[in-house]
Amino acid sequence: MITKETINLIFDSAKIEEVVGEFVNLKKRGANFTGLCPFHDEKTPSFSVSASKGIYKCFGCGKGGNAVNFLMEHENYSYPEALKYLAKKYNIEVEETEPDPEEQQSIDEKEALFNITAFAQKYFNEVLLDSEEGKAIGLSYFKERGYTVDILKKFGLGYCLNKWDDFSRHAMKNGYDKELLIESSLSKSKDGSTYDTFRGRVIFPIHNLSGRVLGFGARIIKSEKNKPKYLNTAESNIYQKSKALYGLYFAKSAIVKEDNCFLVEGYTDVISLHQAGIENVISSSGTSLTIEQIRLIRRYTNNITLLFDSDAAGVKAAFRSIDMVLEEGLNVKIILFPEEEDPDSYAQKHRPAETKNFLQKNAVDFITFKARLLYDETKDDPIKKASLIKEIANTISLIPDPIIRTLYVQKCAGLVSIEEKILFMEINKLRRKKSKDKAITEIKEEQESELEEILSEKQLKPVESSDYQEKELLRALIQYGNEEISFVVKDENDKDVEKIVKVMDFLIDEILIDEIEFENKSCQSVFEEIVDLREKNAFDFEQHFLHHTNEEKKKFAIDITTTPYTVSDNWEKVHSIFILREKDNIKQNVERILYSFKLKKLEKILADNQETLKNTSDIEETMNCVAKDNKLKKIRTLIAKKLSRVVTK
Ligand code: GTP
Ligand code: MN
Repeated sequence: MITKETINLIFDSAKIEEVVGEFVNLKKRGANFTGLCPFHDEKTPSFSVSASKGIYKCFGCGKGGNAVNFLMEHENYSYPEALKYLAKKYNIEVEETEPDPEEQQSIDEKEALFNITAFAQKYFNEVLLDSEEGKAIGLSYFKERGYTVDILKKFGLGYCLNKWDDFSRHAMKNGYDKELLIESSLSKSKDGSTYDTFRGRVIFPIHNLSGRVLGFGARIIKSEKNKPKYLNTAESNIYQKSKALYGLYFAKSAIVKEDNCFLVEGYTDVISLHQAGIENVISSSGTSLTIEQIRLIRRYTNNITLLFDSDAAGVKAAFRSIDMVLEEGLNVKIILFPEEEDPDSYAQKHRPAETKNFLQKNAVDFITFKARLLYDETKDDPIKKASLIKEIANTISLIPDPIIRTLYVQKCAGLVSIEEKILFMEINKLRRKKSKDKAITEIKEEQESELEEILSEKQLKPVESSDYQEKELLRALIQYGNEEISFVVKDENDKDVEKIVKVMDFLIDEILIDEIEFENKSCQSVFEEIVDLREKNAFDFEQHFLHHTNEEKKKFAIDITTTPYTVSDNWEKVHSIFILREKDNIKQNVERILYSFKLKKLEKILADNQETLKNTSDIEETMNCVAKDNKLKKIRTLIAKKLSRVVTK
């Protein structure tokens, strides 16, 4: 075990951008780095590395983690292997200790399971080849099915005596305890007595990649009512059926050599094809194909040929497997066996050369396979034909590589006589929908908590009218528009310099730039008139409005400039103080009035946005609202800061 200190040191030293940078071409963008994701096929970068957080994240495929996770994922390293890789990269000496008791126990448990399983395999194999019952029942069964002794030995096949507990007693005599026997599925316990799980069955050991036995499949000799044809080892510390592939240990070098992997349904199919000299063959034994299994195969080849029975179940399984294999970026071909035949029976009935020939001649790509199968059903019915084409388009849309996708579009267009363009349109539509769905789920998850937060805030109360702030602003414009105020700003040499501006310019420009509209119609028209006056250099706003030809406007102007507003909110006190000192504090007051005005406007927009958010069920609108809410709140903080600065001065 690597010590905690070493692990900490490794994590502290590893720079995520350097580790990932060894495998991915990263470009700096702001605080982060981006590049093309190494875990999925893409043309524009959605892979992001945050140096400060020490993590990577792909917004396309969702993969993410720290430097160690990256190495485990990308280089297939185990945890300690990834740590050691980093230690070497950063010149860190690795300190290791004896495993602690808990870890040791887990190692011991696995090791014990491996031991009992190996012990059992040897026992079953000897029973098959040497015992009276084994030879009479097990061996003769295998011989009847055409298996040679060589192939029985190669695959380590066996037989479990039909004697209740012969194996269990033998194992316990050799020091294996009852719990372990049960844990490994080899024995069962009932009313205190322990008996053999697989009794009276022939045994197919399942190996891992390094040839150790993980578990067993056990076939009944003669089919019996109420008894399953196969019994299998249950999931354990060492056996996970979704990750195991029957025959891979014996097939892997042939798979690499042939650059193709035949995938069959049963144990017996694997063995019979092997015997016929076709060794690049494996089976997902007892489970439908899993993503983990496909990724395991991908270590050795990019080409999978699926061999299926022509019954309905076989075809259905084929359809599902085709989509999965394509989605993982591998190439797939399909061989459908004649009725009433499977690879095992075919290989037993024909000479090896014939079997090889059959496989070679009958492998078709998935479009041909689907088109042929569905063709009989569709005949000349245009609606059925359309759904067949959609079915094929859907499968093509799963292929990650655009070039391969295009080649299949061409092939399909020719085969079902439809324009390529139309097929492309359909496929692109499907792909857009898929990537949109994916993006939406991701964003949804990320934003869901945010959304809750927004909606739970008590901000949903209606925002009071901004009438007071609007009038205040106009009052400031009319009464002090022509006054000058000064700001300290930076010049081009970064030096502080004083800048003098007129109040009208300061206020008008701020409002125009932010495109703020007045809620009160009269206020809006007065403001527009002021903007006009400024253009005409008619700067005495007070005189202009107090002698306005339009009676209504005159009255309104007098109103806002003379009536001391009784303020209803908690600005009341502050405000009355300011009224007194307004003249000598123009700048401060103008700023205060502007920021209060802006803050009020912002709150209104925020509330409106939240109202929309509350009422929409459209995902896109939801996303937009959440983003807008975020942005508005940031601006609100900024303005609130400015406001508090001027108020507390
Ligand atoms: P044969 O009939 O002897 O040729 O066996 P097979 O291996 O060809 O079996 P079959 O085609 O019926 O099934 C394919 C695979 O599905 C088998 O190899 C088993 O892994 C699995 N399987 C079949 N029947 C059962 C069962 O009753 N229980 C379990 N757990 N798995 C089964
Ligand atoms: Mn079979």
